[in-house]
Amino acid sequence: MRGIQGKVYTVTGAASGIGQATTVRLAQLGATGIAISDVDVVGLEKTKKLYTLGEAHDTKITTRRVDVRVVEDVNRWIEDTYTEFGKLDGAANVAGVAGGDGDTTVETIVQKDWDFTMGVNVNGVMHCMRAQLAKLTKPGGSIVNVSSTSGLHGLPHSAAYSTSKFAVIGLTESAAGEFGKAGVRINAILPGPTDTKIFRDGEEKGLFSADAMGGSTLLGRMGSADEIANVLCFMLSDEASFVTGGKLRTWLSGLTLLMFV
Ligand SMILES: NC(=O)c1ccc[n+]([C@@H]2O[C@H](COP(=O)([O-])OP(=O)(O)OC[C@H]3O[C@@H](n4cnc5c(N)ncnc54)[C@H](O)[C@@H]3O)[C@@H](O)[C@H]2O)c1
Repeated sequence: MRGIQGKVYTVTGAASGIGQATTVRLAQLGATGIAISDVDVVGLEKTKKLYTLGEAHDTKITTRRVDVRVVEDVNRWIEDTYTEFGKLDGAANVAGVAGGDGDTTVETIVQKDWDFTMGVNVNGVMHCMRAQLAKLTKPGGSIVNVSSTSGLHGLPHSAAYSTSKFAVIGLTESAAGEFGKAGVRINAILPGPTDTKIFRDGEEKGLFSADAMGGSTLLGRMGSADEIANVLCFMLSDEASFVTGGKLRTWLSGLTLLMFV
């Protein structure tokens, strides 16, 4: 894939799932440096090992415990990454939480649960983008934020999650309009059901059945973290050089086909 080699990236939520797969893919594509963060430090080390085990690579991967809700930690992490590598070419803002359970409604949702979901999924992306945009290579830099197909339509019993993912699209489109003329691209990807921890946790809480969700997609199955990471890396890369403010759905049910909207 053109335009990943020699570049420096940050990835949040890199301890598992889509963030982990994105880190490995960026490294395989020849990124020079990848600063990965998460609240799960054990998972971060696993991600690093996944990449380095048994292969000779040149990518330098740094790990840091960063809770994306904490603005000072995010700022320090991005500053330190810039100091360490001398530049920042792109960012994948992947960290997210599901929030909600099988019974909660907008009437009964507990304020602290709402605040927690918004804190990670909305404030977290905002904290990251603000710090990244100050350092990003201009022209040529690129950011991909992870929203969800639930950012396009409401999700009963998961109002906080759905609302937070709508907000990620708003942030993405607004920033894309602000930075496009500086040569910076900012896009959102909207994964459908993907076989990762957040999805399996949702199933355990009774929010949905994985089989039913997978079966309802056009391909009749869930996606894998690797499949989503491939799309994310494409959006980060120069291959997507005329795509900004995009909402790339990686799955749709019903009649709509994979498309840019
Ligand atoms: N899996 C799906 O079906 C699906 C569908 C649509 C969107 N998404 C989105 O994809 C993104 C990645 O999720 P995933 O599917 O890889 O699940 P995952 O649970 O495997 O990964 C989420 C990661 O975010 C980290 N995280 C949670 N809170 C954090 C915080 N405060 N600060 C830093 N890191 C934090 C977790 O530790 C975890 O490693 C999320 O934003 C999620 O909402 C997933």
